[in-house]
Amino acid sequence: MSQVNIGNLFPEVKDIQEEDLRKSVISVWEDAVELGGWKASDLHEIPFTLLIPDCSVSLVDHTRAVTKTALAIADILMDSYGDKVKIDRDILIAGSILHDVGKLLEYTRESGEVVKSALGALLRHPFSGQALAFKHGLPPQVLHMIAYHSKEGDLGKRSIEAIIVHHADFVNFEPLKETAGS
Ligand SMILES: [Fe+2]
Repeated sequence: MSQVNIGNLFPEVKDIQEEDLRKSVISVWEDAVELGGWKASDLHEIPFTLLIPDCSVSLVDHTRAVTKTALAIADILMDSYGDKVKIDRDILIAGSILHDVGKLLEYTRESGEVVKSALGALLRHPFSGQALAFKHGLPPQVLHMIAYHSKEGDLGKRSIEAIIVHHADFVNFEPLKETAGS
């Protein structure tokens, strides 16, 4: 059993109203930590991307920022458009917290460095994350968000929640990439 307290790592998980969904989200993260062979102390050190050299933003901080960004977008859309845009808040939080969970399998530690794993070279995180979430019985709306949040989803039709997490994710990536490259 994982020693990591996922509720403490992602306080936003407590905002998921539906208890089974909340527990399943926690189970996926616990399983990913265990399957990836990570320790609790690793979790604040795993960078959220390997595309930014020496990235100092952790996967945990990125995931929280994306979740908070997605909720802020949802609040503005609901405030501005009311019933014209239907957003399932529980699904939005669950999919946001899980969108990058597959990175715990896509990455590994080698000689102290976080690098792409053998599995990750074949399956990027939308695939491994979706598979993990399927294993824990997450609903299709959440599986869809994980699978379609990244460029792999560009050819498909994203749900409203997937559109939100897709943009929340990139707005929490591009500015950091720009800053690192300048
Ligand atoms: Fe992300």
